[in-house]
Amino acid sequence: MATSRRHAYCSQATILCHFVLLWLVCGLGWSFAVPRNFASSLQNALDTLGKKGESSESGRGLREEEGGPALSVGVAAAQYEVLKVYDHDASAFTQGLGWYQGKLYESTGMQGQSEVRIIDLETGEVLKRQQLPSYVFGEGMVIHEGIVHQITWHHKQGYAWNATTLEPTHSFQFETTNGEGWGITSDGTHLIASDGSSNLHFWDPVTYKTTRKVPVTLRGQPVARLNELEYVKGRVLANVWFSDEILAIDPLSGRVVEVLDFAALYPRAQRAHELTSHEAVLNGIAYDAQEDVLYLTGKLWPRLYKVRLL
Ligand SMILES: *[C@@H]1O[C@H](CO)[C@@H](O)[C@H](O)[C@H]1NC(C)=O
Repeated sequence: MATSRRHAYCSQATILCHFVLLWLVCGLGWSFAVPRNFASSLQNALDTLGKKGESSESGRGLREEEGGPALSVGVAAAQYEVLKVYDHDASAFTQGLGWYQGKLYESTGMQGQSEVRIIDLETGEVLKRQQLPSYVFGEGMVIHEGIVHQITWHHKQGYAWNATTLEPTHSFQFETTNGEGWGITSDGTHLIASDGSSNLHFWDPVTYKTTRKVPVTLRGQPVARLNELEYVKGRVLANVWFSDEILAIDPLSGRVVEVLDFAALYPRAQRAHELTSHEAVLNGIAYDAQEDVLYLTGKLWPRLYKVRLL
């Protein structure tokens, strides 16, 4: 996201970045001799910093029983399998991902670069695209009843297009707790929006008024920085800004019922070698209900992953 947006959250991210830089500087020369050791020790260091002591095995993470006690470290279950890897536009600052009638939909951010796109999954070709006004910063999008709804970060302004043609249908005003727009999905009845806080906002899909607001909690504590959302089989899946975890949220209670750990999907050590921006974090969840698969990517990531939850 824009750097200005994130000042409130900068300290943790800045510490992490400095740590990564230190590791890179200290480790590079040495890494020519022992690249694998360097990569894995960098990964371990990042894991220790980023994972708060939780398990970080490939495709594994913690599952919290409904109503049960929090699980302890080491109690892990396989959570997903990667079915296929596709190319993704590494210049796309991914803010939203969707799936509709066999095609991938993506919304992007940054002022002057905010768009909504229909993409051919296999080739990565952009089949249709629409630009947002250059003064807004695009955020998440959802397809609801044949209409693409995209929100923006600071302008409380949303845009809607016919999902088939991408012809503009209308624009709309919206409200959230803090006035920002981050992620959006639909449970089929309501639009559900995040604003970077721990709240989910349920909107009437016609008036865009908030009809219900649910604070999201993990083991009793609020979880902030909820970002891109996707409604999957009665749960709201949420990217958490700057995290490799996707939360599965019960939309009625707001309780996080599962923490999906995607640290191994595109490991940070590999990202550190391939990408230049520290903003290039996991963000973007689409769900194909027919195949029961997720498509996952990140901001500026060169790859997009087809994943099945286990
Ligand atoms: C989108 O456009 C197509 C082609 O004009 C039209 O048939 C369809 O009804 C439109 N969808 C909606 C939701 O308005």
